[in-house]
Amino acid sequence: MDKLRVGVIGCGGHAQIHFGMIAAEPRLHLAGIAEIDPKRLADNTAKHRPEHSFTDYRQLFDQARLDLVHITTLPAHLTAIVVECLKRGLHVSVEKPPGMSAAETAQMAQAASQSKGKALVSFNRRYIPQVLAVRRLLKERGGAIQCSATYHKNQSILDQWLNAGLLPDPVICDAIHHVDLLRWLAGSGQDRAAIPVSVYSEVEDGSRPAAHRHQAVVRFDSGAVGSLMSHYGVGFRIQRAEAHAEDFSAYLELTAEPQCELYQALSGEGGTTRGTKLEEPLDLEAVGGPGFNEVRHFTDCILGDHTPWSTLDDAVQTMKLAEAIRRGHKGLLA
Ligand SMILES: NC(=O)c1ccc[n+]([C@@H]2O[C@H](COP(=O)([O-])OP(=O)(O)OC[C@H]3O[C@@H](n4cnc5c(N)ncnc54)[C@H](O)[C@@H]3O)[C@@H](O)[C@H]2O)c1
Repeated sequence: MDKLRVGVIGCGGHAQIHFGMIAAEPRLHLAGIAEIDPKRLADNTAKHRPEHSFTDYRQLFDQARLDLVHITTLPAHLTAIVVECLKRGLHVSVEKPPGMSAAETAQMAQAASQSKGKALVSFNRRYIPQVLAVRRLLKERGGAIQCSATYHKNQSILDQWLNAGLLPDPVICDAIHHVDLLRWLAGSGQDRAAIPVSVYSEVEDGSRPAAHRHQAVVRFDSGAVGSLMSHYGVGFRIQRAEAHAEDFSAYLELTAEPQCELYQALSGEGGTTRGTKLEEPLDLEAVGGPGFNEVRHFTDCILGDHTPWSTLDDAVQTMKLAEAIRRGHKGLLA
């Protein structure tokens, strides 16, 4: 089988994660890269040895005979490149956030609807094997009824880029990972994230720039209720989530290497229940194995002609929810 020819546009910090995932996927071949910064282009060419490298991404499209493009620029630079990829019928992996606003995501989704190329948004929390295994256990027990996600950071360089107009506010740019994770944990069915119905959000930005604080309660169409807590001025970067079905609880620690604690209540005498910690490890093989990730999923979708789990259309829902949380929306969502 011929390998899919991949291009990467924007070879900064996070692109290195994509280069690693591409190199680990035997059905992909790194055909070319594009990066406007000549030093970064030279460094990445030496490091990853693509067939072609250019400062102008249009040359990459014209000369590298691509099937698939990973776009890992900052959000302000994303939309025009994604739309051009899709117009050319290429498959495209879009970094999060998918654009500066839900309107930009919708513009890209519109281009995808008219393209023979598929698009996947890199909401990578959805593809963490431990998250997928927890989701499977929740489904076996009738689905999540309650979930929560925490996404905290101490102040970071986000502020400089935010001021330069290259990023939307942190909860849309970054904590969106856990806004999307709430939708994913609350969703019913293997490939469906829940649709938010209402949100009650409290926003306090404090006096320091970009140290935003959000607390939100979201009701989903699945019946589940989720809550998000996010603060960009805490003591450390912490990322956690929990999800509960009837008599079942999962606590996910996602700050570094994913870890999970599971609890199950068992029936006792007289209608009582006794809670037990489940000691068996999560069944990662049942959800694609410990090496599963969004690049493998997207390769499966392209070769098998399936729809990815995180399409641009679906990402519009996550962007709208993140925007509603950011503006302190209270009530039903349109
Ligand atoms: N999923 C995650 O966990 C995660 C983590 C970090 C960053 N990200 C996302 O990855 C994206 C990139 O972040 P980063 O930290 O790597 O930024 P970065 O600034 O290090 O890299 C972006 C690169 O894109 C290049 N670029 C801009 N316009 C270009 C163009 N027209 N053609 C070619 N190259 C162009 C820049 O020169 C730069 O090298 C952001 O959207 C960010 O939100 C995701």
